[in-house]
Amino acid sequence: KVGDKDVPVDELLERPSKQLDVPRHPKILRPRKLFGARQNSDGLEFGSRSELDALLEGMNAAPVAAEVLPISPDDIDAMMARAGSAFPKWRDTPAKVRAKILRCAADGLEDNRDALMATLSREAGKTLDDGIAEIREAVDFLRYYADEAETLCVTRELPGPVGEENLYSISGRGVWATVAPWNFPLAIFLGQTAAALATGNCVIAKPAPQTPIIGAQAVEILNAAGLPKDVLQLAPGGAEVGAALVSHPDVAGVAFTGSTATAKVIERTLAAKDGPIVPLVAETGGINALIADATALPEQVCDDVVTSAFRSAGQRCSACRILYVQEDVADRMIDMIVGAAKTLRLGDPFDQATDVGPIIDQNALNRLNGHIAEHKILFQGDAPTEGTFLAPTIIELKRDQKLDKEVFGPVLHIKRFAASDVDKVIDEINSSGFGLTFGLHSRIDARIGYVSERVGAGNIYVNRNQIGAIVGSQPFGGHGLSGTGHKAGGPLYLTKFVEETVISTDT
Ligand code: NAD
Ligand code: ALA
Repeated sequence: KVGDKDVPVDELLERPSKQLDVPRHPKILRPRKLFGARQNSDGLEFGSRSELDALLEGMNAAPVAAEVLPISPDDIDAMMARAGSAFPKWRDTPAKVRAKILRCAADGLEDNRDALMATLSREAGKTLDDGIAEIREAVDFLRYYADEAETLCVTRELPGPVGEENLYSISGRGVWATVAPWNFPLAIFLGQTAAALATGNCVIAKPAPQTPIIGAQAVEILNAAGLPKDVLQLAPGGAEVGAALVSHPDVAGVAFTGSTATAKVIERTLAAKDGPIVPLVAETGGINALIADATALPEQVCDDVVTSAFRSAGQRCSACRILYVQEDVADRMIDMIVGAAKTLRLGDPFDQATDVGPIIDQNALNRLNGHIAEHKILFQGDAPTEGTFLAPTIIELKRDQKLDKEVFGPVLHIKRFAASDVDKVIDEINSSGFGLTFGLHSRIDARIGYVSERVGAGNIYVNRNQIGAIVGSQPFGGHGLSGTGHKAGGPLYLTKFVEETVISTDT
């Protein structure tokens, strides 16, 4: 039996698993063009108008969730003790049962789509297309890690000489701390948590302080799917709660997604602890570049740059921060990008006409405005005066100026380069030390090969936009300052969460 309601294992395994009912490449019905030139003329891309109306009705009807109060750092001791007691049973629960619970939770996410989207919009300012894409990604993570864990977590007999038996087994490591950012408060929060659970670990999961409600809803859905309460506990709070959690002597591993600066703090905390060496999986920031040469298709560059820089108000780790455009075509491309950016509409995330929602909070907005104030603005659109909005902003950098920090919002930097300077551009990109996403627009195959072999980035996108990695198709994660790997949604990710044992017996 598993779960607090003691659901018999056989009954759990027989529960039907539903098929996908949220589209895999979701796009929301739009009354007008979105993000440049490559949209269908009528914008009818998400089911039917009645489907969208039903979604909006469901979102509006969703009750506003109660406040989720932060815990005290002192609570971590007791939570850790509960998780430690639950660990042996969960570790020994067959992988197929753990996987089944994750699949049931994926169904639960789909069943609660409207309420979750309402929270994503209210709490994190997600537009409709960002909200639905995030639910899709969360569902994909749960199903993908369920499948992967069933394959990984088996005991195998390995070859050896006659008279010797070698049994190789894989199990959970103990209690993991998962620490999430606010910008994917459902998909990343659940993705890293599901990976730890699927492989037989207990989890104390800390959502970002800006987005605890969606974290609480996700935990509720997992519990309703049969996950015992002490196997996954929510630890809402800010940096102090996070610090108490990762520094706890009984933490067996940390899965973190957030800024590079915080990852470094956690790395140092873990290194300073007595006791076992604690693995850290960290997915962090990037200064993501896109190069467009003179052979690129201008309309496509325009569409992909505007999408990559301004969708989600630029609040994606994958977003394009700097466009290097070959000087021969720069004026035309910049004109087109500015023209497309002008058409973006900022506003209420619940409104289907909104392209760009708000910045997460006033502190973040102040930081962005501080950066913009230090530069010459080439273009800035209009933003509502009420709320934490920042209009898409374009800054042109001079040849001797460099972008040396992650600017986490709808701010695109543009730099021109001469045809003979491609190597210099590659060196400049690599010199940041980050390596998350990189975009390249060119019609010359040799150049595509040359540049993509030399730019150090975990996810390279050629002649398309550079955001929205799909679980299982585009495993996501960076190099260098952008993260430790393994890539989320990829075949090696779960291997970070397990412990291996070999028992060799003389028979
Ligand atoms: P952040 O680093 O400020 O916070 C992330 C989480 O860490 C939060 O839950 C926070 O409370 C917690 N935290 C802060 N200090 C801590 C400490 N000392 N010990 C333990 N936990 C602590 O990041 P953010 O502002 O929430 O998110 C934005 C950042 O996340 C950007 O840099 C973005 O690039 C990055 N990000 C990366 C990926 C990726 O997959 N590579 C995905 C999304 C976001
Ligand atoms: N995985 C997210 C993306 O690719 C961050 O945009």
